[in-house]
Amino acid sequence: MEFKRSIVITGGAGFIGSHVVRLFVNKYPEYKIINLDKLTYAGNLANLKDIESAPNYRFVKMDICDFEAFYQLMQDEHIDGIIHLAAESHVDRSIKDPFTFARTNVMGTLSLLQAAKLYWESLPEHYEGKRFYHISTDEVYGALELTHPEGKANDFSAHEVYGDDFFVETTKYNPHSPYSASKASSDHFVRAFHDTYGMPTVVTNCSNNYGPYQFPEKLIPLFINNIRHRKPLPVYGKGENVRDWLYVEDHARAIDLIFHEGKVAETYNIGGFNEWKNIDIIKVVINTVDRLLGRKEGEDMDLITYVTDRAGHDLRYAIDSRKLKAELGWEPCLQFEEGIEKTVKWYLENQEWMDNITSGEYEKYYEEMYADR
Ligand code: NAD
Ligand code: DAU
Repeated sequence: MEFKRSIVITGGAGFIGSHVVRLFVNKYPEYKIINLDKLTYAGNLANLKDIESAPNYRFVKMDICDFEAFYQLMQDEHIDGIIHLAAESHVDRSIKDPFTFARTNVMGTLSLLQAAKLYWESLPEHYEGKRFYHISTDEVYGALELTHPEGKANDFSAHEVYGDDFFVETTKYNPHSPYSASKASSDHFVRAFHDTYGMPTVVTNCSNNYGPYQFPEKLIPLFINNIRHRKPLPVYGKGENVRDWLYVEDHARAIDLIFHEGKVAETYNIGGFNEWKNIDIIKVVINTVDRLLGRKEGEDMDLITYVTDRAGHDLRYAIDSRKLKAELGWEPCLQFEEGIEKTVKWYLENQEWMDNITSGEYEKYYEEMYADR
């Protein structure tokens, strides 16, 4: 079958990547979608069971650091678009093992860029109709102060009330963790490939995502599972850090829009003006899990356990995504209340997915990770 486009999505077996792959495979039967993933601990093909036999889908197990293999794939599949999500993504792991983050996030991204450059520059049409889209994070901007009275905003007019204390696309990079430092470095390489070679790149920086298929080392799925099993909920520090939460399908829709309509060499921030103090979101999660399990709402509050803070823990992230709304018309579809209800329900109804991850190897890792807290 002839396809109109041939697109590689890296990290497609991970949390956000699997939502992006699903969206593209279903929405664009005329595109060939190649999911390239090394299947690290975070990659899980069970995330894509529903689309795995679609005629426009192919899975390739590959390390993004394998330059030769990726260059060959570019040639074999005539790749004209790359949506790059593969990364080591967990801040706590980066504190224990920074080398893996530099290797995958920095060298891996550079390897993809160089292979794409060599292949696209060898074609008669050169970079015409090509795109390298790099998915990054708000963490590269550093940390903000707690300026909002309740650490919470929830709407696109928040800046009118609270002033300009948000990350904008021109905020100076100031990463603090090995994870954010490695993502910042990869962002710089992507922009350098545009500025030096004219590669048609685009970069987006998104806030915290939540939703189905997130690996249960991250706050929301970890806590849902622990509440279900009545295990302690390790809250770092005083639980006062603020994160800006976006439902993962809203992020995937933004990626689709920006891949197709975003301007070359631009940066777009993606976020829903939905800031929550950790302790407040944790209470919402406890109440929701309790209610959906038929327990008395709030009866599991005593699982909250304050533990040693994360080293270098960024106090607050908050994204200003007004540029994306003004230029491309994107805004989140889902209100937080609806999103968290859907998310908790999904994890409770997909206990087998969770059990397959949390048994065995991961259980050992989790015990070690929390042994010193
Ligand atoms: P994830 O950890 O769930 O998935 C990462 C995927 O990348 C996994 O499938 C893994 O197997 C794959 N991978 C890792 N190393 C690889 C390698 N060397 N070669 C090939 N594949 C490899 O991550 P996520 O939360 O879905 O994040 C995806 C991207 O979005 C990352 O680049 C992350 O920095 C960015 N991001 C995440 C969030 C968030 O809240 N989760 C927010 C903003 C940006
Ligand atoms: O902001 C975007 C980033 O969001 C992404 O770039 C990262 O890939 C993603 O992992 C996420 O980073 P965070 O560090 O914000 O997410 P995490 O779920 O690890 O933690 C959310 C907050 O909850 C953070 O302030 C730390 C805190 N926390 C986390 C865990 C796992 C706890 O208090 N206890 C926990 O057990």
